[in-house]
Amino acid sequence: MKVHRHSYDAVIVGAGGAGLRAAIEAAGKCRTAVVTKLYPTRSHTGAAQGGMCAALANVEEDSWEWHLFDTIKGGDYLVDQPAAEIMCREAIDAVIELEHFGLPFNRTPDGKIDQRRFGGHTRNHGESPVRRACYSADRTGHMILQTLFQQCVARGVNFFNELHVLDVAFVDGRVGGVVAYDLATGDLHVFNTKAVLFATGGYGKMFKVSSNAHTLTGDGPGLLYRRGIPLQDMEFFQFHPTGIYKLGILLSEAARGEGGILRNQSGERFMERYAPTVKDLAPRDMVSRAIQSEVLDGRGVGEAGDAVHLDLTHLPPEQIDAKLPDITEFVRTYLGIEPKTEPIPIQPTAHYAMGGIPTNVDGEVVVDPDGTAFPGLYAAGECACVSVHGSNRLGTNSLLDIVVFGKRGGRAMVDFVHSTDLPDLPGGVEADVRSRIQSLVSGSGGEKVARIRADLQAAMTEKAFVYRSEETLSSMLATLGDLVSRYAEVTVDDKGPTFNYDLTEALELGYLLDLSEALVVSARARTESRGAQFRTDHPLRDDANWMRHTLATRNGDGTVELSYKPVVTGDYLPMERKY
Ligand code: FUM
Repeated sequence: MKVHRHSYDAVIVGAGGAGLRAAIEAAGKCRTAVVTKLYPTRSHTGAAQGGMCAALANVEEDSWEWHLFDTIKGGDYLVDQPAAEIMCREAIDAVIELEHFGLPFNRTPDGKIDQRRFGGHTRNHGESPVRRACYSADRTGHMILQTLFQQCVARGVNFFNELHVLDVAFVDGRVGGVVAYDLATGDLHVFNTKAVLFATGGYGKMFKVSSNAHTLTGDGPGLLYRRGIPLQDMEFFQFHPTGIYKLGILLSEAARGEGGILRNQSGERFMERYAPTVKDLAPRDMVSRAIQSEVLDGRGVGEAGDAVHLDLTHLPPEQIDAKLPDITEFVRTYLGIEPKTEPIPIQPTAHYAMGGIPTNVDGEVVVDPDGTAFPGLYAAGECACVSVHGSNRLGTNSLLDIVVFGKRGGRAMVDFVHSTDLPDLPGGVEADVRSRIQSLVSGSGGEKVARIRADLQAAMTEKAFVYRSEETLSSMLATLGDLVSRYAEVTVDDKGPTFNYDLTEALELGYLLDLSEALVVSARARTESRGAQFRTDHPLRDDANWMRHTLATRNGDGTVELSYKPVVTGDYLPMERKY
């Protein structure tokens, strides 16, 4: 394998919203490379649909304090309150900045940015749903991605597209470089750098029913985890209530924000029983559990009775066309259903990782319960855990998170690289990546990546989904042991250097297996139910023992060690979570 060597002040890994926003901050201020396994505009930010929240109060009274309260309560009080305050305060400027960058938001008749309702966002501390989500039809993420990419192009940002970063090199306790595999040529690229910001997105492909693209395999957190960086709050994985039945493709919460209603087999609007005040606009963890409960109690729809209906039939057709054009087209394409006249079968879908690489509010990666920052290491967006979402993210706070913390991380990274020299990178830092690739290509054990991945996804969906218990999680750990053994016997059939997806999917599967284990070990240890983690054997939230974040560290022998750090609290004390 040919090795190309580069030298930059800073490297950003990933070109979704967080990576691009960080790149805008660094552009012109230091020599920066953006290294991304996907062409930037194919990043998964482009799949985000419903909106980005900010208390602009354009259409009704609102305040960033209400937004903060909703975020903390929505996150079931595992949110670090000072970090969430930064996000909710800075949201307003972040939306205005995007508008000035050229983002085509939907408008009110008098030309202001329009806003709509979304789950868990309320006026005056839970009184009723509030219109807080700024949006571009149901393709808000797509518009953000295109807008940020255009701004990067205008600033001459230096992209290395379709280079898959597979390792990080640490030198004398600081960042020294990253190693990437070139998908087009099979060559390796070594980047010597003072700092690296990971913005690689989520890892929902560990589940069978998922809204995540095929590429969301947790490469950034996965490779750092293997280098000894802990992962925070991995047990909290969000299941979005409305995925297309069996496929998991996202049908935006905006559908309910626009007035859509969830109904069970008998047509009952069942959310009235679970969340009498906000009904279908309760937070996602509650709605997903309500759907599963309807199904388990025999009130589901679909071939196996394992779905419920999303009903848009009462909405004016022109409202559907104007506000929900993409998702209604998905329904026609994938289900052959006309959503203006027929209810849509949906089921919860693995959507978003609340956990990930622990960072402070400046994107610095922190590696212990004392918040010690690792010099030169940054993360932002879904792969990071700040923690502003706690145990359950509110819809629209992810697009907000990527722009607020992408910007803050980019800015802090620029300051850092101006304060330090480029470390000497020892020769051979690519050796580990080279040997991983060679052993996969030369493997003859006969196991196939697709089969192991399908078994992983099926088992995670059966045993570590909306409802979990000691029994299901222990069983999942045993399954993971088998899958890891089978992974050691993988045979990659394609031996070529050019766009060898057989090989890259094998590499990605390795990260998925590692992260699944971190999730399951963390979930098993947390003997309470909070936010997205619901333990049927521990159904209550336990603030006395569990107002703390989990840190999962992988030891040299491959075992997972857990430690904990307290939640950073603030004005809002944990209360019973009623909606
Ligand atoms: O439902 C949605 O449009 C998803 C939004 C989000 O995850 O924030």
